[in-house]
Amino acid sequence: MQAIMTRKALEIPPFIVMEVMERAHELEKEGQHIIHLEIGEPDFTTPSCICDAGREAMTQGQTHYTHSLGILPLRETICNHYLERYGVHLSPDQIIVTSGTSPALLLLFCALLDPGDEIILSDPHYPCYPNYATFLGARPVFVKTYEKEGFQLNPEPIKKSIGGRTRAVLINSPSNPTGNLLSPERMKAIAHLGLPVISDEIYHGLVYGQEEHTILEYTENAFVLNGFSKLYAMTGWRLGFVIAPPRFIRPLQKLQQNFFISAGSISQWGGLAALTHAEEDVARMKKVYDERRRYMIQRIRELGFGLPVEPAGAFYVFANARKFGENSYDLAFEILEKAGVGVSPGIDFGQNAEGFLRFSYANSLENIREGLDRIERFLDHR
Ligand SMILES: Cc1ncc(COP(=O)(O)O)c(C=O)c1O
Repeated sequence: MQAIMTRKALEIPPFIVMEVMERAHELEKEGQHIIHLEIGEPDFTTPSCICDAGREAMTQGQTHYTHSLGILPLRETICNHYLERYGVHLSPDQIIVTSGTSPALLLLFCALLDPGDEIILSDPHYPCYPNYATFLGARPVFVKTYEKEGFQLNPEPIKKSIGGRTRAVLINSPSNPTGNLLSPERMKAIAHLGLPVISDEIYHGLVYGQEEHTILEYTENAFVLNGFSKLYAMTGWRLGFVIAPPRFIRPLQKLQQNFFISAGSISQWGGLAALTHAEEDVARMKKVYDERRRYMIQRIRELGFGLPVEPAGAFYVFANARKFGENSYDLAFEILEKAGVGVSPGIDFGQNAEGFLRFSYANSLENIREGLDRIERFLDHR
């Protein structure tokens, strides 16, 4: 008998940005030069103090499974970090260290969502949120956000979307794809709706001229997802964590034990060094991102894309491209094929994001300049 594929496997949508990137790699193999502005990954290599800690861990024989919750020194350091940065008191017993924010998200959704349950998400959103929920048989309920408001979630429509099966609302500030922050007032109002809040804080630290807040400043009825990929340029290390109310830890731990056993031991020692020794490196990378951000915002506006609110976080500019084409998928692939620049189509991030393009400034200023020059020439001759 031939193996039969599950509906779940067949129906999970692709991550379109990966498809842009994979097509870009094909073009590169054919000899074309491509500028990558589609990628949501730091172009920096991991700071040396973190690499040293990883090497040291290997030398010291820290090469085994760890406790399923993660090594205690790392969990204690995460607590210190949340205390120093946000004034929030946590116990290491509230933290589960995972192999990235993606597994953290999966564990959490598995613990919160039964088939038929609902989770409230913003539209636009990070594509994996609804894909994971749907995979589990739950239903994502979308609340539209608008470019003029910097795509900030509004508590009122969230309130109207709450039903008998609603299990949580998810926020992501600074946000992928928009690069915008949720104001403390709105965050507080969302926290006070009485619904559990999941806060994806993976872009915390990458904030320019504003201040980010953790949901834990406003409510204990919350789950934080976070990771080391972006701020510390550690995408390949696969390290993240969940902070949860104490009664959720045991179920999350059992899921972790079954699915993943533990996060990578070497990565965990690297993560500890990131939180304790990488402050200067982070400041250096942040300064560079900010220069690129300011340059990109100006050029994108000059090219005629709509950008009413300046993004102040992460490393993305999410611009209205409707003037150049209603179908963002076609437009992104046209820009790739004809201008040799990878950009992410808005439709990857939700129906309400159609007509937008996401530009990443996780690339050198020189490449950003060249990429935007190419787009300018392409638009002029279209
Ligand atoms: C909003 C958001 N959450 C989570 C992730 C997953 O990150 P990782 O699994 O590398 O920690 C990403 C990656 O792009 C992201 O943009």
